Amino acid sequence: MDARLETAARVADIAPFHVMEVQTAARALEAAGRSVVHMEIGEPDFPTPAPVVAAAQRAIADGGIFYTSALGLPALRTAIARHYTDHYGVAIAPERVMVTAGSSAALLLVLALIVDRDDRILLPDPAYPCNRHFVRVLEGDPVGIPVGPESNYQLTANLIDRNWTPATRGVLIASPSNPTGTVVPHDEMQRIVSTVAQRRGRLIVDEIYLGLTYGLGAHRNGHDKPRSVLDLTDDVFVISSFSKYFNMTGWRLGWVVAPERHVRDLEKLAQNLYISPAAPSQHAALACFEPATLAILEDRRRAFEARRDYLVPALRELGFGIPVMPTGGFFVYADCSKFSHDSQQFCRDVLDNAGVAITPGLDFGRHRATEHVRFAYTIAQEKLEDGVARLARYLGR
Ligand SMILES: Cc1ncc(COP(=O)(O)O)c(C=O)c1O
Repeated sequence: MDARLETAARVADIAPFHVMEVQTAARALEAAGRSVVHMEIGEPDFPTPAPVVAAAQRAIADGGIFYTSALGLPALRTAIARHYTDHYGVAIAPERVMVTAGSSAALLLVLALIVDRDDRILLPDPAYPCNRHFVRVLEGDPVGIPVGPESNYQLTANLIDRNWTPATRGVLIASPSNPTGTVVPHDEMQRIVSTVAQRRGRLIVDEIYLGLTYGLGAHRNGHDKPRSVLDLTDDVFVISSFSKYFNMTGWRLGWVVAPERHVRDLEKLAQNLYISPAAPSQHAALACFEPATLAILEDRRRAFEARRDYLVPALRELGFGIPVMPTGGFFVYADCSKFSHDSQQFCRDVLDNAGVAITPGLDFGRHRATEHVRFAYTIAQEKLEDGVARLARYLGR
């Protein structure tokens, strides 16, 4: 037999999503007649807002569905830029905004732009699993740096500095984070920006959950609103998406705000990799920024906040460790070591015995992964309450 592997070596290094396996097992139980409370799902349960669906229908009926520019519809790039001014108080030139096929494509394009073979990219551990796989696909070296409650489960300038080597090319962080729901405080972000710049590295900040932040007071129109890293520097790649805040996961639409000098190269990569983001989705997304849509989304953000306010104390009461209050996204990363040191088995047991689907820490890295699980509050409040009651019975609380 040929000594070469049948597929490229990189494929063996890409782990499947354990959450998908949880979901498959949960669906099998449901098919067998059991009821399952789904707390594993990483997408909003809310449907796409009606004005967005109507915009898509109009665009399709008009018949103008062709390839767009690889950078996206100019009107959408302008609308996204304006959104940064309206919501985050930062002025962005529309020319710096590139619409992509989900933020997944944005991450891949930006990493393809900066990662050469064996280049190291620093990531927190735990983190969104695809990031390390994107780096690996590009023959780079993803370096997970263990983080915990002492740093909000986020990288700090200090950690970045201590882990920097001549092979390090850049840093990729998500704020708010999946799986921890925690944010990088703005003063720490300032230090991270300076440290990465001093090292002449590249900084990528995934802000796909920035619209979904909680507990920040009068944050939409007041003093304590969520802040984008674009507030601090233009020399950063900011990744974002229509998937989460805008409730459009299936439309596969995201964006990147890039330093102006890199836009042409990103365009070239997108042209070659997938030609353009989907046209119906882009026409639909134009309606995201209408006041009627934003009002719907703001109500939904408040619903997520209410769910978080219920779930976190309830899980703590059961004995899960949640030392840092998550302030964004829709996830709670909980220490389950009181119950098990094998989170994968724990998730299986909880599913089989309590009918609650949750995700093992293993999906998000190695650091204390066997002692953590992720809860998603992407289900209605009554279902969350049912899930907590089931867990209480199973755990004997
Ligand atoms: C932190 C983070 N970044 C990026 C993505 C990719 O999302 P999409 O490609 O739908 O924009 C996800 C999806 O769960 C995520 O959690």
